[in-house]
Amino acid sequence: MAKHNSIKHPAAIVIFGGTGDLTKRKLIPAFYNLFLSKHLPEKFTILLLGRNEDKNEQFKKDLFDGIAAFSRNGTPDDNNWKIFSSNIFYQQGNFLDNSTFVTLKEHLDAFDKKNKQRCLRTFYLAIAPQFIEPSAEGLYKNKICNQVKLDRIVVEKPFGTDLATAQKLNTFLQKRFSEKQIFRIDHYLGKETVQNIMAFRFANTIFSPVWNNKYIDHVEISLSEQVSIGKRGGYYDGSGALRDMIQNHLLQLLCVVAMECPGKYDEASIRNAKAAVLKKIKPYTEAEVFKNIVRAQYTSGTINEQPQQGYLQEENITPSSTTETFIAGKFFINNERWKGVPFFLATGKCLPKQASVIMIQFKDSPYKIFKDDTVPNRLLISIQPEQEISLLFESKVPGVQMKLKPVEMDFTYKESYTEATPEAYETLLLDVLDGDATLFMRSDQVEAAWKVVMPIINAWKKNPKKQLLKYAAGTWGPTAATSLLKPYAKNWVVLPATKKS
Ligand code: BG6
Repeated sequence: MAKHNSIKHPAAIVIFGGTGDLTKRKLIPAFYNLFLSKHLPEKFTILLLGRNEDKNEQFKKDLFDGIAAFSRNGTPDDNNWKIFSSNIFYQQGNFLDNSTFVTLKEHLDAFDKKNKQRCLRTFYLAIAPQFIEPSAEGLYKNKICNQVKLDRIVVEKPFGTDLATAQKLNTFLQKRFSEKQIFRIDHYLGKETVQNIMAFRFANTIFSPVWNNKYIDHVEISLSEQVSIGKRGGYYDGSGALRDMIQNHLLQLLCVVAMECPGKYDEASIRNAKAAVLKKIKPYTEAEVFKNIVRAQYTSGTINEQPQQGYLQEENITPSSTTETFIAGKFFINNERWKGVPFFLATGKCLPKQASVIMIQFKDSPYKIFKDDTVPNRLLISIQPEQEISLLFESKVPGVQMKLKPVEMDFTYKESYTEATPEAYETLLLDVLDGDATLFMRSDQVEAAWKVVMPIINAWKKNPKKQLLKYAAGTWGPTAATSLLKPYAKNWVVLPATKKS
């Protein structure tokens, strides 16, 4: 959503956690694609900060492999790679040691000097939560990130582990930097299909009049993942699906679906409208948590004909862990538009397939003139891997009788556009360089999202084993997730065949 097509001002980008997985899989491929599409300024430098020693520029070979494996544009060609990689450097350093920041400052000052101006500076903190504050402190104390208009700090999730730690981190950062400089990233907001929801809702007259509790029966937002937790046990066991996915990605999607039309298409108005939704989500009591939220953990099973071990057997998982890898919940928004409309959210790892879908189910037709039962209208917004919007409506089956059957009206990106779809990180990184925080989380949004999930965290903490279900890897999660939908629906659209837990 960057205001500018390309950035002209020379830019220095510093990635803390420069040898990490995110850098290799997402950040460098995204910067490379921005470089290819000429969105990066002509003069840029990317400095990777990491704790390990680098021998013979091995890091560049790793980055090349990362782009080849994960970039939408595939393996870099020699010429482009030569130019791009000549701007990337590695600095070994410990984030807890001030000398790291002294050396960093020297590099940044030298880049300014070479370009005869104070350049843009972006500090991307792709590091474990315990290093965020020390790193931010190092930047602050050494006056490296001190120009509000030019310097930005990007903080990856998890932003805190609960409301108190998120508030503490917000206070810590806001004491040292202006809120304008702080970019709390939630990559779901950068996805093309998610950005399109605003266009769909607010640029088309036909949907606004029916986008409320008078016409909408319920909403489902499901992010089903086929992947396991893989090697992320160290992080995931302390997090679980609630903190890893609901607190951020799913609640953000809910905001985009439920927000009022912002007064203007600008940063403040859009973020205000989203924050207003979060603040109106009904908080649960402990008893309500166990009635409205289902949690489960995967056991061994088979995915794509491959054996998958159970969660408790994964690397770095406490053998008696009660961390959930699946969660489904019913939420209500207490405002005029949404009163009485349940929002069902679900996400899980090791499910049969990947599918991120928002489903809006409309109320049944008020006219009961046909012999057949009518199927209510449904709007399906598929975020990934399919990128499409389809509307399900009743139609007469050709023939001599009045027989009804639901049919679909489809819009797919593939058929409608020739333009390539940028990766979420491309959009978001360009926005950071451009200083546009519209698609990033403001401090109050992050805190409001934590407030929604805190009753659940607390209820589970107090009753660690209560109603913790199991599901075999490769199945659609526990049956209790389906029961949650009653009486609104018989099955989830994305978790269609929930099997016995
Ligand atoms: C991350 C979570 O934020 O989002 C991961 O930490 C999850 O656990 C990922 O797999 C999902 O993102 P995407 O873009 O692959 O749907």
